[in-house]
Amino acid sequence: MSSSEREPIAVIGTGYVGLVTAVGFAELGSDVWCVDVDAEKIDRLRRGEIPIYEPGLDELVARNSSRLHFSTELAPALEHARLLFVAVGTPPTHSGDADLSAVHAVVGSMPRPDGHALVMKSTVPCGTGANIRRIFNESGKSGFSYVSCPEFLKEGSAVGDFMHPDRVVVGGEGDWAEEAVVRLYEPLDAPLVRTDIASAEMIKLAANAFLATKISFINEIANVCEALGADVVEVARGMGLDDRIGPKFLQAGIGYGGSCFTKDVSALKLLAGNSGYHFQLLNAVIEVNELQKRRVVSKLKRHLGALAGKRIALLGLAFKPNTDDMRGASSLVLAARLQAEGAHVRAYDPIAEDQARTLMPQLDYADCADGAIADADAVILVTEWREFIELEWEQVARAMRGTLVIDGRNALDGTAVRAAGLTYEGIGRRR
Ligand code: UGA
Repeated sequence: MSSSEREPIAVIGTGYVGLVTAVGFAELGSDVWCVDVDAEKIDRLRRGEIPIYEPGLDELVARNSSRLHFSTELAPALEHARLLFVAVGTPPTHSGDADLSAVHAVVGSMPRPDGHALVMKSTVPCGTGANIRRIFNESGKSGFSYVSCPEFLKEGSAVGDFMHPDRVVVGGEGDWAEEAVVRLYEPLDAPLVRTDIASAEMIKLAANAFLATKISFINEIANVCEALGADVVEVARGMGLDDRIGPKFLQAGIGYGGSCFTKDVSALKLLAGNSGYHFQLLNAVIEVNELQKRRVVSKLKRHLGALAGKRIALLGLAFKPNTDDMRGASSLVLAARLQAEGAHVRAYDPIAEDQARTLMPQLDYADCADGAIADADAVILVTEWREFIELEWEQVARAMRGTLVIDGRNALDGTAVRAAGLTYEGIGRRR
């Protein structure tokens, strides 16, 4: 391979992280062999169909189709690539630890050493790399290299995040594989953190746990603002201008969702606990988030009294805009709580309805925002999709039975909502 040629790679697991990684490296010029055990998914990908909703991904797949190779077999990947990126799921187990069975299935399926390396993209507990090294050594595969290269993509902006990362973290054993991974990322010109494997694993968990902590912190500030008459949006602006704090992830709302924060905060807490350290702060982060999802219910009761028979419209269900992902979404808890109170809940999400229906088959779904709003006693903004932010509030006021609008993401123009004769209530906003 000449120095101008790009290293071919394999990506095992074509879920969200795997697919974006594969397509991103193809865009940078590598041939990418993608492997997945799900034959139906591989068939769809071969036909150019994208199994997830992620803005910009379909164009990138189409543009790089000649460099992307999809298969259910590992053999072609092993034949063509030295670096095998692992991007399989690591969902939480009943104990809250990460389920590493898919990772271990990959490790177990590796052949005897022949100059390959596993590059771990899946989020795994700190110590996993050391454990895999031990397994390789004990099974006569000590020639296998191992690199930890955690992923920091955000759903909804993953393509941009891949191309313009804040940093690239590469934890390795100082061998050819670590060098090769560093070289792969070179064209992105991002700050590089080269470190040992355990530290790389910890960076990923600590980053997610810190971001979740920031959100729970501002949510608690919002709750105190409500009690004391301050406005959390103003407070966050004033705090965020301090360089040491920064403005991001200071948006108060009805709690963080998604598979990552929920899973990783709990995994880090348990990882610490299992090694004898009680991570007190993360207990609070989790509890604050759980309570935050439910606070809207008491707001509703304050305005409407008992909720039995009340018609509540939920605008948005996905855990954040620009994704159809419902994992850990605050809407799941909120909708269930409202139904338990006897409210009639009608929901609309522009993209996530199919995913939502499988998790909440009993919910009443509207096929547009107007349909959800019609005759509602209260409207709750759950996910800040652009189309909700751009609603005509006079029209909303005419369609509703009641007047209450709860802005669960502090994303609406409260003045415009009030000007339409509606009652606006945000999270931690001055009334
Ligand atoms: C998160 C991290 O941001 C990524 O860096 C990481 O790679 C990813 O997890 C992962 O581990 O795979 P993601 O779950 O896609 O990314 O979503 P975020 O944009 O971080 O949002 C998470 C949740 O926090 C959403 O429900 C969002 O609405 C909420 N949030 C975010 C707030 O409530 N307030 C904020 O200020 C920011």
